Amino acid sequence: MNPEEFRHYGHQLIDRIADYRANIENLPVRSPVTPGSIRAQLPTAPPEQPEAFDTIFSDLDSIILPGLSHFQHPNFYGYFPANSELSSVLGDYLSTGLGVIGLSWQSSPALTELEEVVTDWMRQMVGLSDAWSGVIHDTASTCTLVGLISARERASNYALAKDGLQGNTSRLIVYASAQSHSSVEKAALLAGYGRANLRIVPTDASYAMQPDALVEAIKADLANGFTPCAVVATTGTTTSTAIDPIGAIAEIAKQYGLWLHVDAAMAGSAMILPDYRWMWEGIEGADSIVFNPHKWLGVAFDSSLYYVRDQEHLIRVMSTNPSYLQTAVDSQVKNLRDWGIPLGRRFRALKLWCLIREQGVEGLQARLRRDLANAQWLSEQIKAAPNWRVLAPVPLQTICVRHEPAGLEGEALDAYTQHWCERINQSGGAYLTPAVLDGRWMVRISIGSILTERHHLEGLWALMQSVVS
Ligand SMILES: Cc1ncc(COP(=O)(O)O)c(C=O)c1O
Repeated sequence: MNPEEFRHYGHQLIDRIADYRANIENLPVRSPVTPGSIRAQLPTAPPEQPEAFDTIFSDLDSIILPGLSHFQHPNFYGYFPANSELSSVLGDYLSTGLGVIGLSWQSSPALTELEEVVTDWMRQMVGLSDAWSGVIHDTASTCTLVGLISARERASNYALAKDGLQGNTSRLIVYASAQSHSSVEKAALLAGYGRANLRIVPTDASYAMQPDALVEAIKADLANGFTPCAVVATTGTTTSTAIDPIGAIAEIAKQYGLWLHVDAAMAGSAMILPDYRWMWEGIEGADSIVFNPHKWLGVAFDSSLYYVRDQEHLIRVMSTNPSYLQTAVDSQVKNLRDWGIPLGRRFRALKLWCLIREQGVEGLQARLRRDLANAQWLSEQIKAAPNWRVLAPVPLQTICVRHEPAGLEGEALDAYTQHWCERINQSGGAYLTPAVLDGRWMVRISIGSILTERHHLEGLWALMQSVVS
């Protein structure tokens, strides 16, 4: 494709996306297609001859779009929001269109330096001190893996980097609550700790980690001759947005020499609101933090920020220095390949830069406040209605609900809950995710799509009541 053809189809593509966003409300939120039906419409072998781009657009309309669930829909309340504000979409296109790759500072100086600038803007926006340095990764799962590898290397004095799993260290133990995200368990496995060395710390009535129970678990491991190594605390758990007490956990981590990694994948965005920073009070006592601007803040997927206090340690753990990547300026610059796992990096900073500049911090704050107020409004409606229950505190924008008709309990209640949730999802009118809390199925309503206004929630509440009546 030459630049003139690109201009022609590129304009069409932008028009298509603008139309898609403008009319998204008319689409069923969850894709109605059945498994395998998209694949069945596509050729099994690649085309031997070139095809006109128009035919690709036509297949996009007839085959691909019906197979999408629409995350940007105002009635999308599933998982967590994955907002893709259009200004950040332009930043993402720029990144792809410019086609540069950060292998070293010199391979594209602006790529590294803009990343330094925007991660520092974000640091200020969420109220972290200048002791923190940030880098952009793809997802929170990657950041947590990097955090647990860094913890492992600090606890073993770099022994594992030298001898790997053959090193003769005592068992390294990781602690997290039962409400922590599955990415913590995955990171513990991938970083070589082993599932048997991940301790699940009990939570309290609000689903937050109990500091006393953490201390007990650490003491028991010490008594067995094991090495407590890292604790992962969550600000805003996935199921119910519970808030682990970071300050108390940081004190314990300090006392026992544990690495504290804070997973604020979702709630990190709310830290741009100064009055919400109580949620991670004590954060300066952590060693690493992850949060995802690609969730609620509005940066097009993928954009996950990883902050560390000890950048020298991170670089020591992650750096490699083959001759073909060395440059004369290496001692004066950051080479971000030494800040994480992949060598090549996309110019992800552009989409954060475009979003923050186009919205302004105040614009982003106003949208988050709207969603927080909407969540409070809906949870009040639900609490006031007979047989409906809000099952967990609502500190942010996610509400855990159950409809409990008299006489229904146990597995029958589980089946009933999943049934009414599925009826809503199947209707295409809204998208909710069911999940298990305290061993019983309930339904999460996660508010925060950019287009979601109060009237959408009024509609959702009416839909919920209609499917249970
Ligand atoms: C608290 C928390 N941590 C981690 C993750 C994993 O995020 P990612 O998809 O960026 O790996 C999620 C995903 O929703 C999450 O809610």
